Amino acid sequence: MVNPNTPALGSCRLISALLSVLVLALVAAALPRATPAQATRAVAATPPMGWNSWNKFGCNVSDKLIREIADAVVSTGMKDAGYRFVNIDDCWQVSRAADGAIIVDPERFPNGMKPLADYVHSKGLKFGVYTDAGRMTCEKRPGSYEHEVQDIQTYASWGVDYVKIDWCYAEGLEPPVQYAKFRDAIAQSGRPIVFSICNWGVKAPWTWGPRTGNLWRTTGDISDHYDRMSVIGFSQDGLEKFAGPGHWNDPDMLELGNGGMKHDEYLTHMSLWAILAAPLLAGNDIRSMSDETKSILMNPEVIAIDQDAKGVQGHRVWDEGPLEIWVKPLADGSQAVGLFNRGESPLQITLDFNKIGAPSSAKLRDLWQRKDLGTMKNSYTAEVPKHGVVLLKVSK
Ligand code: GAL
Repeated sequence: MVNPNTPALGSCRLISALLSVLVLALVAAALPRATPAQATRAVAATPPMGWNSWNKFGCNVSDKLIREIADAVVSTGMKDAGYRFVNIDDCWQVSRAADGAIIVDPERFPNGMKPLADYVHSKGLKFGVYTDAGRMTCEKRPGSYEHEVQDIQTYASWGVDYVKIDWCYAEGLEPPVQYAKFRDAIAQSGRPIVFSICNWGVKAPWTWGPRTGNLWRTTGDISDHYDRMSVIGFSQDGLEKFAGPGHWNDPDMLELGNGGMKHDEYLTHMSLWAILAAPLLAGNDIRSMSDETKSILMNPEVIAIDQDAKGVQGHRVWDEGPLEIWVKPLADGSQAVGLFNRGESPLQITLDFNKIGAPSSAKLRDLWQRKDLGTMKNSYTAEVPKHGVVLLKVSK
């Protein structure tokens, strides 16, 4: 009988055990796995819709404001129109406790965050917060650097559904490395949380964003002016290849209803964001918005373009001087077409159907007038106001 402890047989066993481990490791590495990013894609199958405090209220956030906004999302019909997230931006946090736990501003949020999240949830809405991947937020509140896992765990314990993560005070840090820490922490938390990367396009987030978060800002901040909004919106051409269900380019939040743009300019803002399959985060005071603002933010046919299940971001197909035509292919085989006039006076724009691969005889619907225009042959010409748009649905 062979002694199992003989050195020769012992080393044989060792080698074969090592080989088995190696083979197992190789097989495991080769098997398709659900990465954390893939696992969280379902939370943003279409571009997220909701409201965020920053554009209108800046640091002036409070428990009272957020509750009133949640009420208004329901009472104005925004919720029924598809807006779901109520997100607090910068300035809710003040310091850290000795154990590193983030401390919520006790004056502005006297109940803490969990009861506020519960209130938002009780309205059938979802709740979001903001932090920063660097050492401080842009408003110099504590950042999440070196507290990535702890902060995400805290948010998950409050019932947070959406986290926007900024990039101030991040000198010397690498965005893909830092943001991946939050992705992994979210996956570990076990809670489905939409992950919004906000590093203003630094280090081309569209190249690493799809495996890291659900959306990533592509530019610096928007403001409530036509020039800024249009520079951001019209510069998105070419980024469409990086977007799709679960992972979206983010040209920043809406300024609609904040008063700095004219009616036609706001129509351009909403039309362009819809064609871009951009996240639709209202940034106005929805408690007191005008009927005009409501009609733009809540036009169901325009929202349907943004939220189309095909999840394709539109792109520019033609431009000449101040005129641009953008197209977004839709799930039902039709196309959303924006005829944009960036000029300073009204101008005619002709859409040649063959330019967009539409049949020579096509049905047109005007989505702002909410009117069928009938069947047209070969082309359609519209007069488009200064800084305005004609938004069409073109189908067979
Ligand atoms: C900026 C960010 C804005 C807003 C602001 C808050 O960096 O782009 O959307 O979050 O910080 O301080």
